[in-house]
Amino acid sequence: MNYLPASDRYERMSYRRCGRSGLLLPAISLGLWHNFGNITPFGQQQSLLRKAFDLGITHFDLANNYGPPYGEAERNFGVHMDRDWRPHRDELIISTKAGYDMWQGPYGNNGSRKYLIASLDQSLKRMHLDYVDIFYHHRPDPNTPIEETMGALDHIVRSGKALYVGVSNYNAEQTAIAAETLRRLGTPMLIHQPNYSMMNRSIEHGLTQVLEDEGIGCIAFAPLRNGILTNRYLNGTPADSRAVHDPRYLKERDVTEERLALVRALNEIALRRGQTMAQMALQWTLRDPVVTSALIGASKPEQIEENVRALTYEPLTDEELAEIDRILMS
Ligand SMILES: NC(=O)c1ccc[n+]([C@@H]2O[C@H](COP(=O)([O-])OP(=O)(O)OC[C@H]3O[C@@H](n4cnc5c(N)ncnc54)[C@H](OP(=O)(O)O)[C@@H]3O)[C@@H](O)[C@H]2O)c1
Repeated sequence: MNYLPASDRYERMSYRRCGRSGLLLPAISLGLWHNFGNITPFGQQQSLLRKAFDLGITHFDLANNYGPPYGEAERNFGVHMDRDWRPHRDELIISTKAGYDMWQGPYGNNGSRKYLIASLDQSLKRMHLDYVDIFYHHRPDPNTPIEETMGALDHIVRSGKALYVGVSNYNAEQTAIAAETLRRLGTPMLIHQPNYSMMNRSIEHGLTQVLEDEGIGCIAFAPLRNGILTNRYLNGTPADSRAVHDPRYLKERDVTEERLALVRALNEIALRRGQTMAQMALQWTLRDPVVTSALIGASKPEQIEENVRALTYEPLTDEELAEIDRILMS
């Protein structure tokens, strides 16, 4: 059936400026790392994308190796593009990345010009797109000169295959050098995509300062710590949870008693605020204006609804933030 997006979609979401660029991103974005490969029915994928857009989520994030198998999330996205999204292309920010292992041999991994340009060409074919909005170098490569990697990103923008570029998983020092290199080439670094949640605060020790100083946006990936920072595992491990149905990266053994005890303590604050654990974790991630967007995953449309509703609550108070800090440091 033809998809008609909700007419009130732009009233449901807030949009935040990405660093000092002209681009606004939704406060909550949807990632296709899980639930878009060959182990998830196409209809389920479609309902996730449609629900997201109906709620004003204009940004879908991919990478060359999202699946399983590698490439499959982009391949499926190409079919979704043809069925639902072509009329809305100019309302969407679609990103992809290269930097991890993708194909065999010396040219399918890391940060060479050869790999990045070939990989983006493959991604565009899989997704049935002429260009992506954002192309990322997925992780730093200490063995390739930064001039080569950033030179490839600059070339990609100039060739029209991406509108903006960014980096992911770079530390503060690597980001500062990459940003300076890109600036010299004449292509600003739009955005950084780091791992950031209540359970991983490493970016607070230098990276956020660099991003603020440089005017680079920040999209925090896995703000729910792959589902642990929700009520998903509080009463046992459900059969349809990621730790059971797709344990490639999150295994049952990662859902430790210690982590659950932390989530239970945090959940007390969420309950007091009349919201869910996931909603509080998202508000917490977005409390610093340096964070442009929280990049969630979801296996059910209801999770997206719940997560977007996080934006309707009063901000966390200083007292609540201090209490959260105490729990996280305990
Ligand atoms: N740049 C990088 O290196 C990198 C690395 C990792 C991820 N990412 C990006 O970040 C995106 C998000 O990563 P992620 O999926 O790990 O993020 P996440 O938001 O931390 O975890 C998402 C998972 O949490 C559960 N969940 C979500 N909302 C929930 C709710 N309201 N209540 C209960 N459970 C809920 C679902 O798990 P169930 O399946 O159990 O329902 C969902 O799949 C990826 O898709 C990708 O785009 C980037």
